[in-house]
Amino acid sequence: MKYSVCKAEDLQIGQMKAFTVERKSIVVVRSQEGELYALRNVCPHKGPALSEGSLDGTCTANEPGEYNLEKVGEVIKCPWHNWEFDIKTGCSIFDPENVRVKTFDVIEEEGTVFVQV
Ligand code: FES
Repeated sequence: MKYSVCKAEDLQIGQMKAFTVERKSIVVVRSQEGELYALRNVCPHKGPALSEGSLDGTCTANEPGEYNLEKVGEVIKCPWHNWEFDIKTGCSIFDPENVRVKTFDVIEEEGTVFVQV
């Protein structure tokens, strides 16, 4: 079922906001490209709201001393221990096959953001 959560203008590029839909906490994110993504707003490690964390990138390296910032604006970092989740897939960066958060369909229609639950 489709639920309206906010006006499109209330979710600007690079912002994320939490909503409760059908008693589920969901974080909706607008990426740097303006696309919308929705994820379960609960860290699978110890349970805090991911929306209390930060929207950032992730760092990779091929050798010691090298730092490459990737996926800028596409990674939610948990506020407690910094586990990182890809906003597009819900998969964790460190173990994408086994640690992830549920994603939801989200659309923008006529100036309103809707989440499908
Ligand atoms: S509670 Fe989220 S990383 Fe530990």
